[in-house]
Amino acid sequence: MKLDQTLANAITAAGQADLLRFWDTLTEEQQSAFASQLAGVNWQEMPRLIAEYVLQRPKTEIPADLGPAPYFPLKPRNAEEKALYDRARARGAELLRAGKVSCLTVAGGQGTRLGFDGPKGTYPIGPVSGRPLFEYFAESIRRIGAKYGRPLRWYLMTSLLNRAATEEFFRKNSFFGLDPEQVFFFTQGTMPAVGYDGKLLLASKSSLSLSPDGHGGTLLALRKSGALDRMTEDGVEYLSYFQVDNPLVPVADPLFIGLHDLEKSEMSAIMLAKTNPYEKLGNFCVSGGHVSIIEYSDLPAELAERRNADGSLAFIAGSPAIHMISREFVARLTAGGSLKLPWHRADKKIPCIDADGNPVHPTEPNGVKLESFIFDAMPLAERTMVLEGDRKSVFAPTKNPTGVDSVESCRAMLIDRDARRLEAAGVKVPRRADGVVDAKIEVSPLAVADDEDMIDFVRTRGLKEIAPGAELVLD
Ligand code: UD1
Repeated sequence: MKLDQTLANAITAAGQADLLRFWDTLTEEQQSAFASQLAGVNWQEMPRLIAEYVLQRPKTEIPADLGPAPYFPLKPRNAEEKALYDRARARGAELLRAGKVSCLTVAGGQGTRLGFDGPKGTYPIGPVSGRPLFEYFAESIRRIGAKYGRPLRWYLMTSLLNRAATEEFFRKNSFFGLDPEQVFFFTQGTMPAVGYDGKLLLASKSSLSLSPDGHGGTLLALRKSGALDRMTEDGVEYLSYFQVDNPLVPVADPLFIGLHDLEKSEMSAIMLAKTNPYEKLGNFCVSGGHVSIIEYSDLPAELAERRNADGSLAFIAGSPAIHMISREFVARLTAGGSLKLPWHRADKKIPCIDADGNPVHPTEPNGVKLESFIFDAMPLAERTMVLEGDRKSVFAPTKNPTGVDSVESCRAMLIDRDARRLEAAGVKVPRRADGVVDAKIEVSPLAVADDEDMIDFVRTRGLKEIAPGAELVLD
């Protein structure tokens, strides 16, 4: 077959005609698959992106007036704030009872650092049972639905690369007890990888090297997949957003939801006090009245290390990537079917083929992948809100196999959270001299979503004490 002339012209005009060098050697079937891949690329935009992000190294502009973003503290500072938090909690619960909230998880990443073959959400993180990450979220969502009397829908973003495997995992596990109708899978967009010479890379003679377009792609994918329409039909106003790597996250927290609503915020965020200037968290900043998140790799050292008079970090607020996002905000940003978020460059080793069609497995970075970040939408919001979270209760990222932000640290934090909840409910939990829990405990997220649930759970089970060295799943 012949490639559609308009498409062929667009590819040539973008300086990428080389991509078609094997066209005549392909079967009809290969040509047709390649043609539809090529049709998905924005050829008008490509030359500018390549000039700005590949042929030169873009510098993150740091505005002269950049300062730390204001936030609501974990504990209210005065009676007025306490009253606001109380109202927010009640409002959040009311919104959950009225079915105004859905959950949104981004699970399209490739999880390279974890070195795990398969969608990250299938990783068996449960400290005792090996319950996978997806099951933590699914069961928490079921519990919150039961508690507030309204099942929540779960929007789950995958990438083209892991969509089929993710859906298959849910089917095999009977959707972890969720009604399959409750789970709305959607796929994020892709971006072509570009070699350092500015030429798009071919994965094979009949396919581009494509990679997920970053979680910024969520916003447009919500529109294109029909998720936004579904939310409108359901009367859902807010999305509770979290990443697939954090099983400690409260999937729908009444205080956070309520404060987002009362503050009339379009996009809100949880912040945590960073443990050191270079902790790998996005940094909450403000410039010209707009709150933004500057990625850890982009914040200049001078700002990262800046201290207040009392010795605390000036840019203390780090992002665990937990957000509330208003449906209308997503609708506004994506009206017209496009969305302008800045791109971020990542230098990668990208397997591809060379000019003669031979496979190349680079040992050094050979090109650039472009990603957009969802938090770059924050400065585009009319109103934002940032609330401090309690790290021990909201953030245990699974990024690496061992060490910092690892499977090990995540499991230890899950155990510690359950232990603290049990203790608060009056159960004696064994701890070593250094305070570490001397047992492996895993409380089912289906039974306990918060401290209040734990009190009921402990009472019904008549739990008094956990034996030292015990390994228990409590469900
Ligand atoms: C991310 C945040 C960082 C935050 C930290 C908290 C970015 C760029 N940075 O860092 O500000 O402090 O988490 O843990 O996100 N994903 C997709 N599609 C993609 C790329 C990623 O769905 O194309 C998803 C992943 O599945 C994951 C999440 O986005 O759930 C984060 O991706 P990851 O690459 O792990 O980000 P970090 O560098 O760890």
